[in-house]
Amino acid sequence: MTTPELPPPVKLSRLIMSVWVSQALHAAAVLKIPDALGTATRASADVARDVGAPHDTVHRLLRALVVLEAATETDAGFALTPMGAYLRADAPDSMRNWAVLWGRPSIWSAWGRLADSVRTGETAPQLIAGMGTFEWVAQDPEGADIFNRSMQELTVRVSRAIAQAYDFSALRTVVDVGGGHGALLPAILRANPRLTGLVYDLPQCAAGAAAFLREQGVADRCRFEAGDFFERVPAAADAYLVKSVVHDWDDAKSRALLARCREAMRADSVLLLIEILAPERLTGAAFESMIVGSDLNMMLMTGGKERTEAQYRALLESAGLAVARVVPTPGAMSIVEARRN
Ligand SMILES: C[S@@+](CC[C@H](N)C(=O)[O-])C[C@H]1O[C@@H](n2cnc3c(N)ncnc32)[C@H](O)[C@@H]1O
Repeated sequence: MTTPELPPPVKLSRLIMSVWVSQALHAAAVLKIPDALGTATRASADVARDVGAPHDTVHRLLRALVVLEAATETDAGFALTPMGAYLRADAPDSMRNWAVLWGRPSIWSAWGRLADSVRTGETAPQLIAGMGTFEWVAQDPEGADIFNRSMQELTVRVSRAIAQAYDFSALRTVVDVGGGHGALLPAILRANPRLTGLVYDLPQCAAGAAAFLREQGVADRCRFEAGDFFERVPAAADAYLVKSVVHDWDDAKSRALLARCREAMRADSVLLLIEILAPERLTGAAFESMIVGSDLNMMLMTGGKERTEAQYRALLESAGLAVARVVPTPGAMSIVEARRN
C-alpha cells in the first residue's frame, strides 16, 4: 500500500516545523536514551527510570524517534533501528556527538541568523559576536570539544574509505592540514606501515589529538603540531591532506591556505584535497539535501561554501597547483590530487 501524498500546505507545514527533528535527536543523545535501549527491546518506563526522567516525556520522545526511523515500537517496547544505533555512545562509528552538537544553544542561536547571513553575506559568529568562527568556537570549550569529537566521529568513518581508494604505499611522510584531533590518519597509517604522519591544527586541538593518537595506537608514528595554516604549513612532506577544510573558507582565504601548502611542498609532493564535490545542477538525488544543507551551514557558520569540481580546480590553479586526477571514494567524498605547477 502506498502512502498518499500530503496536501501541499501540510507538506509545507511539516517542513516549517522540522526544528523538532534535530532537537529530538539531540535530546535523545544528551539523555543517553539510545544507550539505555542498547541492543534490547525495552519498556519506556524502564528507559525513563534508567535516564532519570519522567515516564510520560521519555515515552513521547521515544515515539518521536519511531517517526524518525531511529527506533521501532512493538508490544514488547521500544528498540533502536540500525540507524538509531549510531546514536549510542559505544556504537562503532557512533554519531552521538554530532547529534549533541546540532542541538546546542550556540548552534541554534546561529541558525536564527540565517536570513541576516543571506542578506549581508556575514557569518553568524560575525553577526553575533563580531569574531571569526574558530575564535567563536574556542570561546565555548565544552562546545569546541563536542565539535572536535563530532569531526572525529565523521572523519574516522571516511578515513577507511580514503585509505581504500588512494594508494599511499610509495609515500613516507604525510601532513594532515587542519587535521583536528587526527581522525583521518590512523586508518591510513595502519594500511601503510612505512608511513609517518603529522597532524597540524590550532593549539586547542593538541590535547584531544594526543589522546586520540595514543588511543588509536599510532602515537609512535604520528604527532601533533600546533600552528596557523594561514601563516605556515610544515615543510617537505610527501603528501598534504586537506580534508573538510577548504569548504570552511571563502575563495580568498582558501587560496591563501592552499598557497601556504604549496610553499611547504617539494616539487614532487602531492596535495590531496578531500571534499564532497557539489553537482553542477541538482538532480533530486537523496544525498543532495546533505550537500545543500552543508552549503548553508558553511555560509552561516564559516563564510565558506560547498564547491563543484570545476570550482575546486580553479581555486587550486589560482594557488599555483594543478589537478592531476580526481579519485572517487566508496563514500560521499572525492580526493582531488594536485601538484605544484
Ligand atoms: C571542519 S574541521 C575539519 C577537521 C578535519 N580535517 C576533519 O576532516 O575531521 C576544520 C579544522 O580546521 C582547523 N583550523 C581552523 N583554522 C585554522 C588555522 N588558522 N590553522 C590551523 N587549523 C585551523 C580547525 O581547528 C578544525 O580542526
